[in-house]
Amino acid sequence: SAIEELQTLVLTTLEEKGSISNTKELCAPNGEDLDQLALLGALKSLSLEGEEMVHYDSIEGEVWVLTDEGNEIADNGSHEAKVFEAIPIGEKGIEIPELQAQAAKIGQGKAFKNKWITKNGNNVIRAVDSIVDQTRIDLQIIRSTGTHSDPKVLSELKKRKLCDKQKKFSYSVTKGPCFSLTIEKQARDITVEMLQSGEWKNEKFKKYNFDALGILPLGGHLHPLMKVREEFRQIFFEMGFEEMPTNRFVESSFWNFDALFQPQQHPARDAHDTFFLKDPATSTQFPEEYLKRVKEVHSVGGYGSTGYGYDWKIEEAQKLILRTHTTAVSSTMLYDLAQQKEFKPVKYFSIDRVFRNETVDATHLAEFHQVEGVIADKGLTLGDLIGFMDTFFGKMGVKNLRFKPAYNPYTEPSMEIFSYHPGLGKWVEVGNSGMFRPEMLEPMGLDPEVRVIAWGLSLERPTMIKYGIDNIRELLGHKVNLSMIQNNPICRLDK
Ligand code: PHE
Repeated sequence: SAIEELQTLVLTTLEEKGSISNTKELCAPNGEDLDQLALLGALKSLSLEGEEMVHYDSIEGEVWVLTDEGNEIADNGSHEAKVFEAIPIGEKGIEIPELQAQAAKIGQGKAFKNKWITKNGNNVIRAVDSIVDQTRIDLQIIRSTGTHSDPKVLSELKKRKLCDKQKKFSYSVTKGPCFSLTIEKQARDITVEMLQSGEWKNEKFKKYNFDALGILPLGGHLHPLMKVREEFRQIFFEMGFEEMPTNRFVESSFWNFDALFQPQQHPARDAHDTFFLKDPATSTQFPEEYLKRVKEVHSVGGYGSTGYGYDWKIEEAQKLILRTHTTAVSSTMLYDLAQQKEFKPVKYFSIDRVFRNETVDATHLAEFHQVEGVIADKGLTLGDLIGFMDTFFGKMGVKNLRFKPAYNPYTEPSMEIFSYHPGLGKWVEVGNSGMFRPEMLEPMGLDPEVRVIAWGLSLERPTMIKYGIDNIRELLGHKVNLSMIQNNPICRLDK
């Protein structure tokens, strides 16, 4: 390797001459100047503590280097020489405007001062037969030797910004106590083979460098969705919400649909929209009395409702599915709330994954995350829902909401929430909301006075807007680029 070649060069030179007074004098085998930085690496590894093959000291020197303009002149000549060259030989010379069109204006003063050119009426003519472009020659000398014998030339050219001084290090080297011509290969780690053969006893081991910087750990990066989730959680906590336990992806159709007064023949319950489990395919554990009341409200009605009037089947409710919305969790939480002796108002939220049997495209995945909020209290109104949405979205920096009537089997009224997006230049849907129906709440055993307002939104949409991602497959799934996750900044919503 290059470093070994440098080490051999140093060692053989030391063997030959006893010492090296300045590594500037060393030449690479190909005759080129040595890269002193690479040489330093070689010297460092030859002078490790306790096994010093060599000792070295650095010598600070200076070298003159050309600027870009200096290099240009060394290659193509000075401005004044270019002016001279632009003037044709003879009495006629060239008219001043034409000369200026051909050669740089800056060289003219100097060419006159050097008495290379002179005026003849309105024309400029050559005043001498030939010139010596000393600036170019001086620059070429500096470029090839790193200096110039005349310090005045150096300072003059520096003033003209054609060259400059730089620090340059080289080294003096002497033999160390462990000097030898051959570099012993040192083992880095003890191996099973060394232990088995006993070879480890004779092996020379490389010293550990405890000052070396560690490798940056590759793990431990939060996904952008988790960063935005954390911001949303903080908003909910700030507003006094409790987090619902969402740690079960598998749910029965009963809690996902039936408890929510979603009829059994509703298209969402089709295998084209919902993932059904094969094994186990069903669940049979339901609160018995409640199940009866759910069956009743679907088939014959009650609580002031006529119901749907169809033949409700337990088999349909027993089917296990991957939950299609986190409202499945909200329904179990509200049922639990209804079982308490005394009603107390609650504010619940959840942010977790849901599943839909959808064709995957740039904006749809078969799984995504929902943010869901639920508030239960006596006497809540639609005005509370609208006012609350203004506060909640306002805390995320989403202002000027508009509400559009919508339909959900479990809410009445239902409203889609829109916000004007200045970047996209249009109104975008930011969430879905509504007041849970009495047909859902009263069979649970909740006081008819209790009103529940609820809303849901996806976590993906605000995350994609926040992080400027326009294809959902770049955010979630097997096509995600891991560096996107490693390099994403933390999330701060513009509140
Ligand atoms: N569950 C609804 C959805 O999946 C969202 C929603 C939640 C709507 C609560 C109204 C009330 O889109």
